[in-house]
Amino acid sequence: MFDASDFIDEAIEKVREEIDGKAVVATSGGVDSAVAAVIVSRAIGDNLLSVYVDTGLMRKGEKKQVASMLEDLDVNYEIVDAKDEFFEALKGVLDPEDKRMVIGGKFIKIFERKAKEIGAEYLVQGTIAPDWIESGGDLRDTIKSHHNVGALPEGMELKLVEPLRDLYKDEVRKVGRELGVTVSERQPFPGPALAIRILGEVTPEAAETARDACAIVEEEIEKSAENGDMELPWQYFAGLLPIRSVGVRGDIRAYGYTIFIRAVQSVDGMTASYSRIPHEVLDDISIRITNELPQVNRVVYDITNKPPGTIEWE
Ligand code: XMP
Repeated sequence: MFDASDFIDEAIEKVREEIDGKAVVATSGGVDSAVAAVIVSRAIGDNLLSVYVDTGLMRKGEKKQVASMLEDLDVNYEIVDAKDEFFEALKGVLDPEDKRMVIGGKFIKIFERKAKEIGAEYLVQGTIAPDWIESGGDLRDTIKSHHNVGALPEGMELKLVEPLRDLYKDEVRKVGRELGVTVSERQPFPGPALAIRILGEVTPEAAETARDACAIVEEEIEKSAENGDMELPWQYFAGLLPIRSVGVRGDIRAYGYTIFIRAVQSVDGMTASYSRIPHEVLDDISIRITNELPQVNRVVYDITNKPPGTIEWE
């Protein structure tokens, strides 16, 4: 049986032995990096700088939420505005693996820059077991390169510290709850963020559409679950497809985008079954998305399990 409190004590002890000097940690707003940050902060205090990179690809309200969480947890942090840098680097990039590489590479560049500024030699990452297993560690075939594993440059000078390497998602959540990390109750969110929920080119406009649609899906599903109309899925979000199709708005033929809704039940993300969302809830989501996002004229629901699908579309 996994004991979160024992794990925390041992992890803090290990980090103290591993880090001699200053470290930077990449805080993404997700539970993994937040839990990693708190553990390392408990071990080395203000010798850790938590860097939140505003990529322009995060969820609605995420920056504010992360800042207030880090303040509450007493973690030393800084926000770097890198929106333009990310959109520039993603121009014309269509292949999802290329997106992951570009984003991972940019992240590392920014952290190396920050690390140099403060004289840090260590980079803390919230890598967990499924990340490196699916990235081809442990002799498995590469399913996808999780951005925090696949994109590390060969000549990286920072030494990597990964306190959550052996944990699965449900264990990370337990550790998060034990540490008082509020984000631990949030659903998982991928490292490359909205970039992989936008099929095709990632532009500021596409990011805005995917972000707004994701927020609507989250709000409607959470409201319905709270009202007892449905079970809260393990993960639920929207994504943007690169195709446009004909629809009609008022009396006018409109050529608009398609948003897909994805919601799954899962334990650790390795397998999943699609959530049986009541049609009334799907209806509310669809009406809100097409009303609030005029560039969208079609909403579809994904009824595929994992396998053969994956949870994300990318
Ligand atoms: P898939 O799409 O592979 O996703 O079925 C399984 C779980 O992993 C999340 N995911 C990621 N998490 N970095 C992460 O930290 C990533 O690059 C990444 N890609 C997918 C996904 O949201 C799901 O919960």
